[in-house]
Amino acid sequence: MQGPDRKTGAEVMLAHLSDPHLPLPKGVPLRAVLNKRLLGLLSWHTKRHRRHRPEILARLTADMQGHVPDLIMVSGDLTNLGLCSEYRAARHWLDTLGDPARVMTIPGNHEALVTGAWDRGAAQWQPYWQGDAEHESTDVTCAFPVLRRRGGLALIGVSSAVVSPPGFAVGEVGRGQRDRLVALLHQTRAEGLFRLLMIHHPPLPGTVSSRKHLRDHAEFCALLEREGVEMVLHGHSHRSHHQMLPTCDGPAPVIGVPSASSMHHEPAAYNLYRITRADDGWQVEATTRYMGAAGHMETGRSFGIALARGHAA
Ligand SMILES: [Fe+2]
Repeated sequence: MQGPDRKTGAEVMLAHLSDPHLPLPKGVPLRAVLNKRLLGLLSWHTKRHRRHRPEILARLTADMQGHVPDLIMVSGDLTNLGLCSEYRAARHWLDTLGDPARVMTIPGNHEALVTGAWDRGAAQWQPYWQGDAEHESTDVTCAFPVLRRRGGLALIGVSSAVVSPPGFAVGEVGRGQRDRLVALLHQTRAEGLFRLLMIHHPPLPGTVSSRKHLRDHAEFCALLEREGVEMVLHGHSHRSHHQMLPTCDGPAPVIGVPSASSMHHEPAAYNLYRITRADDGWQVEATTRYMGAAGHMETGRSFGIALARGHAA
């Protein structure tokens, strides 16, 4: 794959999109929705099918591919009810994005709408969420966090997908995953890598309501502050967020992207990141591409962040 060359300081182009909520396949079996999914099914048929449009997603992904990103990150909520048929359809969509070696995804709360949904569906997407380790566990409850090394980047996928009570869309990383994450962050810091962490739920408190928040955000953020991280990408709110998290290694941007298929809360959008090695760390150039009112893709907010990091030297 193409990627940053640590010796030459060559750059990597990374695209981040989220929450595509692909169309619900026809013929949903009744027995599969006699649970919390029934509310989700009603919501889809009464409003959500009008908000999440495949033609918007297609235009957005075509624009993204035109920029020829080296890596594509998809931060969850590809489905609506976490049905097997949705997992299959989403796998086809992932295949259209590119080779699993350069496309990475994680689950969102919709993938885990009911007990067992993500456990059963995960196998369909495994090439797209698994890490590099050959012996990596296929047990999804302990497979995360996952790690992919791509040139000078450590791509770390964290799962916050847990089953919520009806009316809630909370997430949780959990003690075991947090413990394993400490080791991953420590190890990749020692390797001098740019640690890019992807999680579905916004980690910083107050970003979304308590009905949709990350239950263990305090423990999770304390961990990141203590171990350090270079950048955090998330979705879930269907809105853009630009925040900073103080860490032991310096401030880290925490950036959320709107849904890739909806104009409801904000225009559908994705973010492009150009990450380059600098003398004292890394330089990140970020650009938002969004769907304008006329249906054309436009360039939105652009900004640069210099991340001074001792371990990159
Ligand atoms: Fe979500």
